[in-house]
Amino acid sequence: MTRPAPLGVYIHWPFCKSKCPYCDFNSHVREGIDQARWRRALLAELEHAAREAPGRRVETMFFGGGTPSLMEPQTVGALIARTRQLWDSAPDIEITLEANPTSVEAAKFAALAQAGVNRVSLGVQALDPAALSFLGREHSADEALEAIATARAHFPRHSFDLIYARPGQTAESWLAELERALALAGEHLSLYQLTIERGTRFYAEQARGAFTLPGEEEAARMFEQTQARLEAAGLPAYEISNHAQPGAACRHNLIYWRYQDYVGVGPGAHGRFAQGDTKRATRRASGPENWLAEVETQGHGTVETSVVTGQDRVEEALMMGLRLADGIDRALFASVAGADPVEALGEAKLEPLVRAGFLDVQPGHLKATPAGRQRLNALLERLIA
Ligand SMILES: C[S@@+](CC[C@H](N)C(=O)[O-])C[C@H]1O[C@@H](n2cnc3c(N)ncnc32)[C@H](O)[C@@H]1O
Ligand code: SF4
Repeated sequence: MTRPAPLGVYIHWPFCKSKCPYCDFNSHVREGIDQARWRRALLAELEHAAREAPGRRVETMFFGGGTPSLMEPQTVGALIARTRQLWDSAPDIEITLEANPTSVEAAKFAALAQAGVNRVSLGVQALDPAALSFLGREHSADEALEAIATARAHFPRHSFDLIYARPGQTAESWLAELERALALAGEHLSLYQLTIERGTRFYAEQARGAFTLPGEEEAARMFEQTQARLEAAGLPAYEISNHAQPGAACRHNLIYWRYQDYVGVGPGAHGRFAQGDTKRATRRASGPENWLAEVETQGHGTVETSVVTGQDRVEEALMMGLRLADGIDRALFASVAGADPVEALGEAKLEPLVRAGFLDVQPGHLKATPAGRQRLNALLERLIA
């Protein structure tokens, strides 16, 4: 008997205690959230997702946000239990939850572990108090250290996020912060370069000259040093911003980057899953109140559903797969995107990029070289033009 196709389940919790000035994720500050009502709605949409993608085996779940560590552990537990009833699930299922490292949230870790969460990803962002205040964070550096220790005590796997290339930061000061991070790290670290997103408070502040980011060359130097230092520490990059010990990558995020199947539940969540020979794309209403109203009237908050075919499917899979250090497994790509990537792109497009040292084409794989990954957007423009 063949094994059911693997599936990832993403659940979005759209609320935060305050809005960070750099963040353009679907996250909102609201007073008095009715947790029981949200629990009912998320469970209803989960059931809808099981009708959309039935008969799979759930390999991973991911509670993302927003700030899912503000969810009641009872809600997290109910969603995990229902997922296991609705689908077959892997015995080694990975269940990640994103947490902010305040002491209030760390106090919930035991209950979250009890509810079934077995991996936590902490948004530490910086270990320097002045940087935490600039980033508008609700936690202190000491609270973050304590939250990492609490996470280590309660979850078999944990990771934390840092943001670098901040105003005033030099490659030297970042490397010193990175050393401290490595001393605290477990099997996984996510290290993001600060990006200024349209519509955020930082966008307006940067536009009126309230701060300046490190220059392009300095930022590139920080990126290169990050890659080298993490590799030496035994946590090489497996994706542009994600580093892990061998075998410790986030399996849920690998599903996205390999263009495998996932369903998305909750405001603004996206899904991509195979339907026969095509890929179905879904998107839920992004405003929390709109989403809730839709679910309460029709059982789901889907505002867009389409079929991704042909070249679009190849391009989506390419944009995801070239982020990975191991690149694209051509056989797997053909099974999820419907075509071999090298044949679909053609020799004329690939050859100059291989010659320039940005791409590596082998019988079994297609990958961006480190230089190619560093300028992935430009590389993709050349490939997808
Ligand atoms: C969706 S956030 C959720 C995590 C959690 N709410 C928190 O703040 O810790 C996931 C991660 O994206 C990163 N991130 C968000 N906006 C960013 C930006 N503009 N530049 C760089 N990293 C960013 C942060 O490191 C953050 O931890
Ligand atoms: S970074 Fe995290 S806590 Fe801050 S607004 Fe975004 S999702 Fe919320």
